[in-house]
Amino acid sequence: MIPNEDSFLINLYQRFPVTVERAQGATIWDADGKEYIDCMGGYGVAIIGHCNKDVIKAITLQMNKLMVCHMSTYNDSRLQFLSKLNSIAPENLSRIFFSNSGAESIEAALKFSRKFSQKGGIISMYGGYHGKTFGALSVTYNSKYRKSFNPLLEGIKFVPFGDISSLIDAIDESIGTVILEPIQGESGIIMPPDGYVKAVREICTEKKLVLIFDEIQTGLGRTGKMWAGQNWTTAPDIMCIAKGIASGIPTGVTFVKDEIAKCMNLGEHSSTFAGNPITCSAGSATIDTIIKEDLVTKASDTGTYFKKNLIELKEKHPIIRDVRGMGMMLALESRFDIRDILMDGIRNGLLMLYSGRTIIRLLPPLVMKKEQVSRAIEIMDKILSLEEKRRNVKN
Ligand SMILES: Cc1ncc(COP(=O)(O)O)c(C=O)c1O
Repeated sequence: MIPNEDSFLINLYQRFPVTVERAQGATIWDADGKEYIDCMGGYGVAIIGHCNKDVIKAITLQMNKLMVCHMSTYNDSRLQFLSKLNSIAPENLSRIFFSNSGAESIEAALKFSRKFSQKGGIISMYGGYHGKTFGALSVTYNSKYRKSFNPLLEGIKFVPFGDISSLIDAIDESIGTVILEPIQGESGIIMPPDGYVKAVREICTEKKLVLIFDEIQTGLGRTGKMWAGQNWTTAPDIMCIAKGIASGIPTGVTFVKDEIAKCMNLGEHSSTFAGNPITCSAGSATIDTIIKEDLVTKASDTGTYFKKNLIELKEKHPIIRDVRGMGMMLALESRFDIRDILMDGIRNGLLMLYSGRTIIRLLPPLVMKKEQVSRAIEIMDKILSLEEKRRNVKN
């Protein structure tokens, strides 16, 4: 038998039977040349679409010039990326730390906040997902991920997402930090109740707690604003991003307020690959594309169109319990396990994501065209009918 990836890998990922060979924009082709509409978006990484020409050009130019440049020396590509990040950063988040993934950007945020606040206690949310390294895992809610790896960080309290009075009750002398995804991604695109995000900000300001926004999934235009916090005119003290910022080149960015950044001493945090020239050239081209193609507005327009169509599907298909989300961060909640729906999607040329057992999560590239959305909806309509037939649900 010819070995496939699974013969070598540790069995850690839920895998789909698709061998992806190439991709462009919001379209993927497998090794047999079959075409798929990509509502997975590489788990939200392909923000500006796959294989963007300007990103490829920038990386290629950079690779022919310089591929390795540690943070201990200076580099013009890095300066350019820093300036572009600074130009889109929320107000006052003027300092930047580079890393290589979402979880690492969270690790940095937790260390900066602990040092600044001089307190180990952190409040995180039910359903919050922040990654799987030890620090990030400590503030990730799902016990399925945490239970085999104790002891984790001490002093973490979890409170219900959306419930301000529980947050207030949990604050005591030990707490220095609150960490929040403005919209919870991994848990199934859970929207905050009206006024919640702003109220969390106000409480953190009043109680002098550092507020960290994890915008790893929500950031960079995904929700129809550059940052999800802007949907509620709210900015954090520290903000983490990763996923699409360098269009697939592994990158984490932690934005930090100057007063917090100042508490860190030389050598107290670092990473060998941080701010490498390839990342920086890809990151600059990504930001340029988001701005040049006005992808933030596009995400809002296309997302509104997508959601309207999903709501129509809900009216037609009793199997759908809920439709939610904003911009190009959308979810369909089913009454049943969605595995067969996802597999039917693959058979019919549509890639979608799990969010737990019953929630279909959609994180398409922001460049997806409305015609592709319409085609995706047609496929969903067909495969939802198939599922209803299988489960004997009448519509
Ligand atoms: C909100 C959020 N935080 C953190 C992470 C972890 O990022 P990474 O997988 O790059 O470590 C993710 C990944 O999905 C995420 O969605």
